[in-house]
Amino acid sequence: MVKRLFTHRSSTQAIPEVGDIPRHVAIIMDGNGRWANKRFLPRVAGHSQGLEVVRQVVKSCAEKGVEFLTLFAFSSENWRRPPEEVGFLMKLFLTALEKEIVRLDRNQVRLRVIGHLSAFDPVIQEKIKEAEIRTAGNTGLQLTIAANYGGRWDLLNAVNQALVAHPEWSQEGLTEDHITQYLSMPFAPEPDLFIRTGGEQRMSNFLLWQLAYTELYFTDTLWPDFDDQALEQAFAWYRQRERRFGRTSAQLESDAPDSP
Ligand code: IPE
Ligand code: IPE
Ligand code: MG
Repeated sequence: MVKRLFTHRSSTQAIPEVGDIPRHVAIIMDGNGRWANKRFLPRVAGHSQGLEVVRQVVKSCAEKGVEFLTLFAFSSENWRRPPEEVGFLMKLFLTALEKEIVRLDRNQVRLRVIGHLSAFDPVIQEKIKEAEIRTAGNTGLQLTIAANYGGRWDLLNAVNQALVAHPEWSQEGLTEDHITQYLSMPFAPEPDLFIRTGGEQRMSNFLLWQLAYTELYFTDTLWPDFDDQALEQAFAWYRQRERRFGRTSAQLESDAPDSP
């Protein structure tokens, strides 16, 4: 495997620059099934409605100046669901890949899909490749869909790949940089803001390594109800955070550019 482009410093090795707008937003889009249940609809109706929200959130994040948006669409544990629901999600993923790509491309969105993709139907794998190639030159929002993704899978995969490519590292000892460059998102800085809709306060095996210093925002709003106002609330909450990265508040104040 070719070594991949890796340009971002780790939050545990250097203090990242932070601004009012998160550069990288990562979202667990949860609550589709409950949204549908509340309406006496089949769970899958919630997934369809969830896709509408994805469209809007992609648009709004691009407008707000977010550079990277990462969406958890299907976890490595979601195969445990009833086969009909898994089948529906696969079909929805495929049609979304086919239908949305034109609009994404037109809006300069660069699409990537991360996860253990070889488990998917070859047709889906082919569409993913096509979509990634088609949008590879786009310079707008970098949209990443995590599909059959698991944080533990990502870490194990990275360590195994790193050691195959560089057997000498097993003697020397792996460093953070060795691992980071083989994780599935070496192209992105670590997320600044994590959002989980649907009321649960857990990571469900999402980006375990990359969320080390991410601000974690949980909301009871179900994903199909997550509108622009809900997104703005999350951003407003983010603006109020003091991101210390291990330092004290006093240090932050004395480092501020406009301090005396
Ligand atoms: C998230 O919504 C979508 C996927 C996991 C694919 P859920 O389907 O988990 O909805 P709830 O949590 O059951 O309401
Ligand atoms: C997490 O949601 C995965 C996605 C949103 C794709 P789940 O609904 O699968 O998480 P748990 O099972 O409640 O932890
Ligand atoms: Mg759920």
